[in-house]
This record gives sequence, C-alpha cells and structure tokens, in this order.
Amino acid sequence: MHFCYNKNMLELNKIDHWRSNRLPFFLKAETGSTNVDCRVYAEEYDGDFIFLAEKQNAGRGRRGRDFYSPDHGFYFSMCVNAVSGKEILYTLVCAVAAAEALEGCGQKTEIKWVNDLYQNGKKAAGILCEAIRSNEDFTLKKVIIGIGINVSEDPFPEELKDKAVRLGGIDRNQLAGLLSDALLKWLGAPEEEVLREYRHRSFLIGREVLYEINGREKSGRVTDINEKGNLVVLTEEGEDVLASGEISLKNWK
Ligand code: BTN
Repeated sequence: MHFCYNKNMLELNKIDHWRSNRLPFFLKAETGSTNVDCRVYAEEYDGDFIFLAEKQNAGRGRRGRDFYSPDHGFYFSMCVNAVSGKEILYTLVCAVAAAEALEGCGQKTEIKWVNDLYQNGKKAAGILCEAIRSNEDFTLKKVIIGIGINVSEDPFPEELKDKAVRLGGIDRNQLAGLLSDALLKWLGAPEEEVLREYRHRSFLIGREVLYEINGREKSGRVTDINEKGNLVVLTEEGEDVLASGEISLKNWK
C-alpha cells in the first residue's frame, strides 16, 4: 500500500484526531470499490468497520451505474450490523450524516431525494447502500453504506461536467473523521429525529419536479417526505407518493 505525498494526503492518525469512535478503519491508496472491500472483509469480521480510498477503479453507483472515482477523491464505506425492517432509515441516515459532516468541513449541501447531495443544483455526492443478507432466511444482517464525495481536482468527464460539482477546500481527514461519527450518531437517533433533519436539509421540498410513474411522465410540487421516506408530490390530478425513482427538477436555474 502506498500513499501520495501531497499535503492533503489521507492519514489515519489525522483521521483519528477528528473522530471519537474507534471502529476499525482501513485506508487504501487505490481499490476497485470500497463497498466491495467491505463485503469481503465482512466475511471474516463480524463488527462494524470502515474502508476509505483515494481512488476507485470500479466505483459503483446506484442502478448498476459506475461512479466516477478519480485520484485524491473521497470514497468511503462503512459496514454496520443492521436491524431488519429499518432499510429505508439507513438511506435517510446516510444523507443526513453526510450533509452534516460536510457542513462541519465548511461545505453546505442539500439532500436530493433519495440520497444524493447537491450544491447549487449540481450533484456533489452520491450514496449507495447495499445489504448483506442471511443465506438461510434472507433477513438483513449488515448494511454497507457507501458514500462518494466529489473532492478530486481532476476534471469531470464530458457527461458529468454540467451535472456535477466539486467541493473545494475540504480537509479529507477531517471529513472522514466527522462522517464516521455523524453516521454512528444518526444510526442511533430516533426515526422522527432523522426524518425531521432530512426534511430540514431537503433540496426538493417546495420545488416543481418531473418524474415517471406507471409509465407516464408527470410533474408536480414536492410537499413532503413522509414517515416511510417516500416523496409526496402534489399534481393537478391529486397526490403521488413515490417510493423510488429518478426525479428531475423543472425549471432549475
Ligand atoms: C450514486 O450516486 O449512484 C451512488 C454513488 C456511491 C459511490 C460510493 S464511493 C464509495 C462506495 N464505493 C462504491 O463503489 N460506491 C460507493
């Protein structure tokens, strides 16, 4: 394992300075995917733990997409023992914790349902939660919380240029420490508090959005994120409640 020698290199002793938890923390200069690292390590270690990498060669996004993961970035995965039936809560917790940690590093972001972080209408971070289930009864055993934050100075590829934003001036060691603490704090928080914070940090509430439901393109105004974490949209025909899907903003400037 080797590390780059710039002044902002990731270093475990610096990360430790910024965190109060002592979960096992693995730093990698390069990897395929930190989510995959977690899945592999979970086979031999039963506690909670974290992987963080400078660069991913096979970064995974939601819906089977790749996640652009250039060098000197921030690719973080935490593996936690899970409570079955609380799946939606994990999704909400990650977004809240990541936004809070970024705020602690001087960067204000908002949550675009379900769990992207946006700044000025562009994506700053993406989150991919993956389940590890029991082979016997398929119950949820562990959750891998994968968070990728655009901090690398490498230019975005053409297809991301207008959609993504880089968050500058971040101390990645501080971010790693704060994020690990924030995740543990929000994972232990009551559901109503998580939801309150999620709504408070929501980018979509009050905005006009476009979405697809039952094969139809529709538009409406987001009025709430309900207690199940679903998006509530008011349209001319009534209310739609969305459990998943891609949302785009109407008239975003
Ligand atoms: C998305 O926006 O579609 C989700 C992106 C999630 C990326 C993170 S980076 C750390 C972890 N490892 C991965 O391979 N993916 C997640």
